[in-house]
Amino acid sequence: MRLSEPRLLAALPELGVERIAGASLAERTSLAIGGTTDLLLIRRHASLPELVSLLRAAGVPHRLLGGGTNLLVQDGELPWVLLHLARNQPEVHLDGRMARVDAAADLGRTVTFCAKHNLGGMEGLIGVPGTVGGALRMNAGAYGTQIGTWAREVQVYRAAGGRIETLRGDALRFEYRHTSFAPDDIMLAVKLELPEKPFSEILQGIRVCNEKRRASQPLNQKSAGCIFKNPPGASAGRMIDDLGLKGFAVGDARVSDRHANFFINAGQACCADMLALIAQVRERVRQAFGLELEHEVILWTGV
Ligand code: EPU
Repeated sequence: MRLSEPRLLAALPELGVERIAGASLAERTSLAIGGTTDLLLIRRHASLPELVSLLRAAGVPHRLLGGGTNLLVQDGELPWVLLHLARNQPEVHLDGRMARVDAAADLGRTVTFCAKHNLGGMEGLIGVPGTVGGALRMNAGAYGTQIGTWAREVQVYRAAGGRIETLRGDALRFEYRHTSFAPDDIMLAVKLELPEKPFSEILQGIRVCNEKRRASQPLNQKSAGCIFKNPPGASAGRMIDDLGLKGFAVGDARVSDRHANFFINAGQACCADMLALIAQVRERVRQAFGLELEHEVILWTGV
């Protein structure tokens, strides 16, 4: 979608918003799949309410793009513009055990920054790609750590009320890859209360998680991490593996040889290839195990 309304375009610079015309989602997602649209890079986060109200008044559909690491996007010209929060410096402010982190901050860099200041608890998240805001929305987790455990306060733009609000951690629900945020809430910042630990101890934990991840996940290939959630008490990856589906492909969309719950773009996969692969694998699992796998990756498809 291309923005064309002159009044809207004229207002963007005053709001600290830069328009990137015809941005490619294939270049902005870890799966390297997706079409093009105008992207609004928001340098001044406080102007989000005004920006959204202008877009609404102009009847322009919009979505927030975070790190693009857990996302499958349709091809072609996309029917919404994208909002994207620019990174502000510094991304992390420390106050004792409390780290106030910008939602646009890179998750891995945040983990190491806090570690260097003897704040741990996030070792397991070290190899999880994406932003802190994206991790928070999904309650990203790995190796026994979930980010929501440490969230004490979240600053969020609530589309429903059109305002920026500060929510207390105990008013939010963080579950397995699910939170109580509304789908159109936009994370702006989070306060994480982290346990104090010596840097050397945190580093050791980080090394162990890195090794486990390197040994079991296809890190150097284009993927969106795990495609399906694990059903209670079961592992989607193991079930898909047990069915002999590693290497199974639709076009260039392929089940990883290393971890069967990672689907990779092995070349020029399009969105339809990936969706067909997801549907076929889900059907095979349903037939064999009687379980309906739920996708973990976020789908911006078929709209
Ligand atoms: N397994 C297989 N074959 C495979 C993959 C896994 O037999 O192809 C077996 C493993 O040997 C292991 C079991 O299945 O016994 C579980 O595998 P793993 O430890 O790799 O964990 P997972 O349940 O597949 C989850 C998260 C990952 C996270 C890891 C580590 C989900 C859907 N996945 O994977 O998160 O990194 O644990 O904590 O919850 C993600 O969310 O995108 C993601 C990658």
